[in-house]
Amino acid sequence: SLAAAPRTPVRQLLHDPKMIELIRQMRQAGARGGRRVVEHQVRSGGAVRTYQVTLSAVTDRPDPATSAGVATPVPGAADPLRPPAAAPGDDPPGVVAVLHDVTHEREVGQLKNDFVSSVSHELRTPLASIKAYVELLVDGEAQDEATKREFYEVIQNEANRLGRLIDNILSISRIESGLATVDRKPQGLDAIIRDALEVIGPQAARKQITVVERLTPAGYRASADRDMVYQAVLNLLSNAVKYTPEGGRVTVETVVDEARRKVVTRVTDTGVGIAPKDLPFIFDKFYRAEANNRIASGPGLGLSLVKHIVETVHRGRLLVESRVGEGSSVGFELDLCA
Ligand SMILES: Nc1ncnc2c1ncn2[C@@H]1O[C@H](COP(=O)(O)OP(=O)(O)O)[C@@H](O)[C@H]1O
Ligand SMILES: [Mg+2]
Repeated sequence: SLAAAPRTPVRQLLHDPKMIELIRQMRQAGARGGRRVVEHQVRSGGAVRTYQVTLSAVTDRPDPATSAGVATPVPGAADPLRPPAAAPGDDPPGVVAVLHDVTHEREVGQLKNDFVSSVSHELRTPLASIKAYVELLVDGEAQDEATKREFYEVIQNEANRLGRLIDNILSISRIESGLATVDRKPQGLDAIIRDALEVIGPQAARKQITVVERLTPAGYRASADRDMVYQAVLNLLSNAVKYTPEGGRVTVETVVDEARRKVVTRVTDTGVGIAPKDLPFIFDKFYRAEANNRIASGPGLGLSLVKHIVETVHRGRLLVESRVGEGSSVGFELDLCA
């Protein structure tokens, strides 16, 4: 509604040439013109707003069908909605234009399109390599056991990657739609982190990346959803391995701050780092730092899920520090249980 959108440029919209033309056409068609729904965009102070405009022709004569609702034309001399002077005996049709600001709906629609195209691309890549390696095996291209094993491993890794991507997508959509079932229980985080380390181990090994574990023994308890914290840590570890060149180091640590009643989980790497201009945006859905495209690709969903899990589900705090060319440290802080 107009009242709910105080910055709606009504004046501008009413004086817009396309709107004036639409209103003129409606008026010409007269009362039998019925209703017309058009979508119209207006640039207002740099931003483009989209309106769904419903136009109806009305007359002063009560509708014989309903004998209800008498519409009065909008007063005001400069108003383009004002009907022209009536010819004697003629009922000048007025036009009622209902403006519905659909900018947000259209933006969401665009986001969904981006999502589908970006995600399809990311799904296709591992699938293509699974198909290629299966084909090699089927065609008997792998002569010896070692080669076969190598192919099986590629297939397994790519299938795992596909699985993780799908898990991420489902979790994001469940949390965003408020349908996620959250199961928070007081627990230490090291067992969860070790599970994630086990999954990421082979990926790190392939790049000769040393993984260092500095976990505080579980003498503390945080109220955490096991599966979600696992998924968050897995995404942080996966990024650290992805964005660190061969031979680097990834450290995962938990630090308990008794005074502040917090536990910090942090993944630090010796990778390419994140430029200061990208730092404020890396937790946004689909955001990817342009400069890091050379080292790895991705849909830009991982950190957005981490943000949801940490902030929305656990009411925790995200932490990030990075220096280009030196490495990054990304983590989160959760409250300790009373
Ligand atoms: N450990 C890291 N080192 C360098 N860049 C990172 C790291 N973690 C995240 N980034 C940057 O943040 C962006 C967003 O991360 P993410 O949401 O996980 O997307 P994706 O992994 O699909 O690229 C990445 O594209 C990357 O540029
Ligand atoms: Mg990622």
